Amino acid sequence: MTYKKERPVKHVEIRKGPLSDELRILLDQYPREAWEGHPNFKDLTRQWMRAHDMFRHLSSTVRRNTEQFLDRAKSEDDYARRLSHYGSRLVGYLHGHHSWEDYEFFPELSRTDSRFDRGLEILEQDHVVLDDVLNNFTDDAHELLQIVQQQNSGYRDKLQDIAGKLLYWSNNIEMLLDRHLADEEDLIVPIVIHHKIRG
Ligand SMILES: [Fe+2]
Ligand SMILES: [Fe+2]
Repeated sequence: MTYKKERPVKHVEIRKGPLSDELRILLDQYPREAWEGHPNFKDLTRQWMRAHDMFRHLSSTVRRNTEQFLDRAKSEDDYARRLSHYGSRLVGYLHGHHSWEDYEFFPELSRTDSRFDRGLEILEQDHVVLDDVLNNFTDDAHELLQIVQQQNSGYRDKLQDIAGKLLYWSNNIEMLLDRHLADEEDLIVPIVIHHKIRG
């Protein structure tokens, strides 16, 4: 890396370690390798997991593009165009996904089997942390796009500065998603299979 690393603007608390063992009772019965072949693992659940893969992919694309811009492997126009395209998709789709989980899916799971309520609370709290990071990312992305558009004098230094912050946010988004999505799948897919819900 050729750029000077920005000091983190704000510390992001990333939950360490997977969900506790007591929340993994059904995972022992339905381990990940057995999901695909199970008759209760239906298309709706597959689509939900495909959305998770899309978030993993989008977050790594946004982080990688930012690194490439800072390493001077991408022009400011190319970076701005990609940031606007992939960044807005990542944020928009994630907000929609979280709202649906918080207000519809998690309550349905809780009504089906309340033994896992503590796990669902932890996952909801992850959404709160993620939303906060996404808001910071969005503010800085808007600022960067404005700077590129206006090109006021000395704008290039400012651009490096904001891109450094965007790298910090996108790294955190990627790490938070990595932890959250894997735990969410490990907790929820076994409940869906065991109780034969969602299709
Ligand atoms: Fe989630
Ligand atoms: Fe999810």
